[in-house]
Amino acid sequence: MEKIRVGVFGVYRGLYLAREFVRLGAEIVALCDVNEPRIAAAKAELGEDIAVYKDFDEFLNHPMDAVILTNNFSQHAPYAVKCLEKNIHVLSECISNATMGEAVALVRAFEKSNAVYMMGENYPHSLTCTELRKIAKGGTLGKILFAEAEYNHPFSDYDPAAVKILMFHPKHWRNFLPKTYYLTHSLGPVMYMTGATPKKVTAFAMFDPPAKDAPTACYVGDKAANITTQNDDGSVFRMTAFSQFGGPNSSVRLCGTKGQVENIRGFQDRILLRYNPWDLPENTENNKIYTPEWDDKDAELIKTSEHGGGDFKTVRLFLECIKEKKQPPMPFDVYSATTMSSVAILGWRSVLEGGKPYDVPDFRKEEDRKKYENDRLTPFWGTDGSAPNIPCCSHPEYKPSEKQMELYFEELAK
Ligand SMILES: NC(=O)c1ccc[n+]([C@@H]2O[C@H](COP(=O)([O-])OP(=O)(O)OC[C@H]3O[C@@H](n4cnc5c(N)ncnc54)[C@H](O)[C@@H]3O)[C@@H](O)[C@H]2O)c1
Repeated sequence: MEKIRVGVFGVYRGLYLAREFVRLGAEIVALCDVNEPRIAAAKAELGEDIAVYKDFDEFLNHPMDAVILTNNFSQHAPYAVKCLEKNIHVLSECISNATMGEAVALVRAFEKSNAVYMMGENYPHSLTCTELRKIAKGGTLGKILFAEAEYNHPFSDYDPAAVKILMFHPKHWRNFLPKTYYLTHSLGPVMYMTGATPKKVTAFAMFDPPAKDAPTACYVGDKAANITTQNDDGSVFRMTAFSQFGGPNSSVRLCGTKGQVENIRGFQDRILLRYNPWDLPENTENNKIYTPEWDDKDAELIKTSEHGGGDFKTVRLFLECIKEKKQPPMPFDVYSATTMSSVAILGWRSVLEGGKPYDVPDFRKEEDRKKYENDRLTPFWGTDGSAPNIPCCSHPEYKPSEKQMELYFEELAK
């Protein structure tokens, strides 16, 4: 079979995924980014003769089979729609859509297209998430009633990398990212492990703004939000999304009627498995702490891949879907992706409305599409320069002080 030709839109995160495409035998044929140092770094690694574009429409005219959408977090859907209209396969970084209206446009474009659409959510594929899923599917925990998942990623108020790499201009999406939106690293794993889909969401935020002398342009003064969903099988998920508690971790706990399992916070590769004494499976030790091993034909490649092997497995699944002409399983398919985005977006509305519960739409249904097709509420700056039209902080009046902005620009200039 001919090599699959891939274009990369946004070459910072995109470079990480491009490496995996190359390792899996695909060819990176075009790059698109306006950031020249990043383009230079990507070409130095991937090949100096790769075609480079600054304009997405020109990039999309380059002959290719698939596009990696690793552009701004808040701007994936309009570009995904353009790819799908040309039957070009899409691997989209999270989240799939930043407004409810974009979700409707995305599923409509998907249904008219012959292309594969996949959410590039990689955390479900880490070593411990793979093990937790295996245990949940094995059935020894009984019915899973409750799961909690935290994506906790703190950084220092004074970290220069946060300014220069993560939020490198004042309107950068991370400066306007509400604390429910970066949800797929926690919701993706628990949906994949349990098979449950959220039906209702409610959330509360935790306000604690950065230090007064921090170099920051961030309009979000919250450190975290607690997001709760009631799911289609009666279970409940409790999650955080890019929270900033002390002590980084990415953790999941699954609680069933017979037992529970978790990856231990702070000991990322270790698992704690427990059962009721009367439900203990044969030949199993109770209260067991252990480190799982990869059971995968590509174990050696996975071990050298970023995000605990998640990047490799994400790209491998996407390439398999293209070769086998099939769509990915939940929660990586377009309907799960738009569900996850709905939990993120409506969870934020819940925060702004004192924890009011919201129904999570199912965009397979025309009635749910009609309800949201014109919903363009967003906390982010738009592709066309349009300003946010809802607050990104639980204290809507909060904004960085003049002093903080001054320090931010000083740090950027260094
Ligand atoms: N799954 C993961 O583990 C993981 C890790 C990091 C980032 N991400 C996701 O990847 C995406 C990108 O993250 P990032 O940290 O690289 O963001 P970033 O803001 O640093 O980079 C985005 C890049 O896209 C380019 N870009 C945006 N709009 C453009 C346009 N219209 N034309 C040309 N270039 C354009 C920018 O110049 C920039 O280089 C986000 O959705 C983020 O959530 C995922």
